[in-house]
Amino acid sequence: MLQIISDLEDSQYSGKTTLVRVDFNVSVNNGLIAEDYRIRMTLPTIEYLTKRDSKVVLASHLGRPQRPQSRYSLRPVAKRLSEIIGRSRVRFVDNCVGEIVRKEIESMDKGDVLLLENLRFHKEEETNDLLFSEQLASLADIYVNDAFSTSHRRHASTYGAAKLFNTRLAGFNLNKEVEYLSMIKENPIKPFTLVVGGVKIKDKIGALENLLPKADKVLIGGAAAYTFLKAKGVRTGNSPIDFEHLSWVTNALSTFGDKIMLPSDHIIASSPQDSYASMVKGDIPDNMSGFDIGNETVERYSAEVGAKGLGTVFWNGPMGLFEVGFFANGTMNIAKNMALAFWRGSKTLIGGGDTLEAMKKAGVSEGEVSHVSTGGGATLRFLAGDEMPGIIALNEK
Ligand code: ADP
Ligand code: 3PG
Ligand code: MG
Repeated sequence: MLQIISDLEDSQYSGKTTLVRVDFNVSVNNGLIAEDYRIRMTLPTIEYLTKRDSKVVLASHLGRPQRPQSRYSLRPVAKRLSEIIGRSRVRFVDNCVGEIVRKEIESMDKGDVLLLENLRFHKEEETNDLLFSEQLASLADIYVNDAFSTSHRRHASTYGAAKLFNTRLAGFNLNKEVEYLSMIKENPIKPFTLVVGGVKIKDKIGALENLLPKADKVLIGGAAAYTFLKAKGVRTGNSPIDFEHLSWVTNALSTFGDKIMLPSDHIIASSPQDSYASMVKGDIPDNMSGFDIGNETVERYSAEVGAKGLGTVFWNGPMGLFEVGFFANGTMNIAKNMALAFWRGSKTLIGGGDTLEAMKKAGVSEGEVSHVSTGGGATLRFLAGDEMPGIIALNEK
């Protein structure tokens, strides 16, 4: 059981400094942030702590810099967070450890918020260096992890430093992720429908191994579908096939074939840049590739996802190359049917950066999904049952 921030008595926070590991790894272009879902998701935790008069120190990484580089600075995120929080300015400091950080924290009033510069400007973050962990831990009295999407990393800020605190707690966002994802991993509300698309089968195998036995229906789309079709002897033309995992897929089909649904028709073209796309049933001709599920498949899949008002639906991976207009239809329909399932009373979960983008493109809001996971790799690792150092560190002595 995770101890969460509301488990600690309010009086414990007053005047104390709380170090909150958040995941503000968002894409920043010319100082502008397009998608700030990960930032907004940490508001409940930040405001809970500021209302209890804690000094809130936020630490995050951004990108994968090898050294300090201005394009990986978190400064624009501090600006965005200030706009979101509204009433107060979020302070920002150019480092995440050392004297200037200590001075900045000393000058904070109760209820102030400070964002530290990118943790990965120090290579010691990723090597989980003890000295760096000690420097981080020396900044605060209480440790909070609200960065579910980085909890699969054994880094100083998620693991080494965390373990140096006596009081270590989960933030609301991390806790919500763990609750929803544990539900589908361990005890999904039935019937449980799994919708899987995208390209890389490799990244999803661990999660699929855990979820396939629990699912009642598994809908496969996206580029991943062609490897499944190939394994069944369907002609797939030039569509991408993951030969490395063909035998895993063949096995999955022989064990769980009864519940696995595959596309019966496809939108095909000779390349994504083609000015012409057509629809075929069954086999895909040589020299052509499948870039989306066809209309009949859309209908079959929509009926499975949207028509149900009970149970759970988990969706990861677009049904096609949705970034290109010709090939967006399948994905847009699944997104809209996810919303229908939600309105009819199903628990719906979405995971994956591209899937979230597709959902937005379809005009489905975050409020029309029970849970939109902030994690990419972390979500799949968690569902696969892998160790999550960032969560272990909250419990381990
Ligand atoms: P997520 O980020 O949601 O986990 P993935 O990264 O697994 O999703 O896959 C998303 C990508 O898969 C998208 O960029 C999409 O264009 C691509 N994709 C899906 N279907 C196809 C296809 N048939 N051909 C080529 N690319 C595809
Ligand atoms: C993510 O975006 O998946 C997390 O922020 C982790 O980032 P990383 O893969 O660079 O560790
Ligand atoms: Mg992706």
